[in-house]
Amino acid sequence: MVATGPRCLSNIVRSQDALHAPYGGVVPELAARAHLQTIVPVIERALDVAGTRWEEIDALAVTRGPGLIGCLLVGVNIAQAIGWARTRPVVGVSHLAGHLYAAQLEDPALRPPALALIVSGGHSDLIRWRADGGIEVIGRTRDDAAGEAFDKGARILGLPFPGGPAIDRLAVAADPRAVAFPRPRAPGFDFSFSGVKTALLYDVRKRGPLSEGTRADLAASYQEAIVDALLTRVESAFNEEPAPTIILGGGVARNRRLREAAQDRLGRLARLVIPAPELCTDNAAMIGAAALVEWDRRGPDPVPFDADPSLGF
Ligand code: KG4
Ligand code: ZN
Repeated sequence: MVATGPRCLSNIVRSQDALHAPYGGVVPELAARAHLQTIVPVIERALDVAGTRWEEIDALAVTRGPGLIGCLLVGVNIAQAIGWARTRPVVGVSHLAGHLYAAQLEDPALRPPALALIVSGGHSDLIRWRADGGIEVIGRTRDDAAGEAFDKGARILGLPFPGGPAIDRLAVAADPRAVAFPRPRAPGFDFSFSGVKTALLYDVRKRGPLSEGTRADLAASYQEAIVDALLTRVESAFNEEPAPTIILGGGVARNRRLREAAQDRLGRLARLVIPAPELCTDNAAMIGAAALVEWDRRGPDPVPFDADPSLGF
């Protein structure tokens, strides 16, 4: 539940990590079914925690895409069904825009222009958020997304799903300089993580069974390579065209080393806004924040509208 400001009144997250963990990754059919089972109780709880009655709600916000079609369909259909039943307008927004506008929940005074890095399980996008509100993607991944690189690296290291948090935890007390993994270099501001992932795979194969200490050192070194690659790109983009604010968002922005290194390296270039960890991983509040922006820009969507699994910002 989000009020103008933007102000977060409640943010209920029903994680599916435990559901997918036995399979080592997200199983689309299970994800969609779990969405269907939990969406109504989650909406009721969000109303409850915020202490809001339906009469006080002006509009509904929902993710139109990008993402798994089965999951998106659950959301867009229930949002439009509630909108129809309660005669409320519906705003369909981009999941990626949600990760960007989550920064406004952290700092309601935040306005463009800004340079932003959005890193999640499906995307690694470097964007310029223009003064007029327009969004220009200036860098994207050529292969795996940053979160995917964390998840695949974790699997190589024998760590549980989701891999990002597992690597983050293990790396805390380990040596990030134990192994000098290659720093990925794609053209322009693009990212590429397949090289560092392959380097980790060969290193692990070469070593045979890993001791706990070595596993942790490899996790820390691998994490360091990804973090360094991400921040190097942000620095280059900033040097090409400075901005008063730099934003980090998306599930990978929870990463402790990324947050710390970003403070060191980017915090002295511009004002750095990294949303609180719970606003970085997928959540409903960021979709509410995005809907407020879209509402001001273009108003509600004409219904009926469809999910769009390959929607951009
Ligand atoms: O934005 P998000 O919650 O979902 C997508 O839109 O994909 O991002 C999920 C991704 C996963 O790949 C997960 O491993 C990664 O974010 N992640 C992390 C951390 N927490 C979540 N990666 C590194 N360190 C973390 N602490
Ligand atoms: Zn996400």
